Amino acid sequence: MDIRNFEFLTGAGVSAESGLATFRDADGLWEGHRPEDVATPRAYARDPSLVQRFYDERRAALPEVEPNAAHVALARLEATLGDDLLLVTQNIDDLHERGGSRRVLHLHGELRSALCTGCGSRHAWTSGLGTWPPCPSCGANEMRPDVVWFGEVPYRMDEIWPRLQVADVFCAIGTSGVVYPAAGFGETAASYGARTVELNLARSEVAPWFDDVRTGPATVLVPAWVDEVLGSAQQ
Ligand code: OAD
Repeated sequence: MDIRNFEFLTGAGVSAESGLATFRDADGLWEGHRPEDVATPRAYARDPSLVQRFYDERRAALPEVEPNAAHVALARLEATLGDDLLLVTQNIDDLHERGGSRRVLHLHGELRSALCTGCGSRHAWTSGLGTWPPCPSCGANEMRPDVVWFGEVPYRMDEIWPRLQVADVFCAIGTSGVVYPAAGFGETAASYGARTVELNLARSEVAPWFDDVRTGPATVLVPAWVDEVLGSAQQ
């Protein structure tokens, strides 16, 4: 395999074995809520305290979970590939970074960041927002989670699209393939000539776009696939 221009897309499945709930598995609820009820601008306008509480709980839970073998394996690959690897995640947790990855783009934002709707500034944030703390930049009590809700524009797309067009390998891990634009990344990369690989517990909605579909837990599939890539790089 030619070791150049790898692009990864991860979803909730990569963090599942660390103990973080996915969005659509089992009962289709995210920690007891329909994603649409806590992850839309409308939900925030209707009941801001509920939405803040929901994300505050998710943020407070982060120190209780650890990166798993899949996060660590991706960081190991990055240590070899450097800038030839780009990791795009839909996850708002920080497990890729804590697993050792540095080249991570958070398409749907980050729990550990707060966005001031007053002045537009962003701030690293580890405590709660439900008490409406003042913005460190402008003082307005209008800090919201720095995450992308349904109906909002995903982050970092200007960096992601060009990489999809030159990727030699595109690998999707632990994502159901139902939320766009991320769900279309495999199709885009394939149409520009990338070899496409899906590593997921079960075949996703977009599995037909992938050349190689492997099913199983991420903590098994990802380290094994990384070993394959690194093994062929040394030959
Ligand atoms: P989903 O919950 O939709 O899908 C999780 C995927 O992970 C499913 O395909 C599972 O089969 C798979 N999975 C579960 N456990 C796994 C494991 N141990 N190993 C490997 N795969 C496993 O989550 P996402 O696809 O990430 O957006 O959801 C995409 C977006 O929808 C989220 O970023 C969020 C959500 O609504 C916003 O909030 C804007």
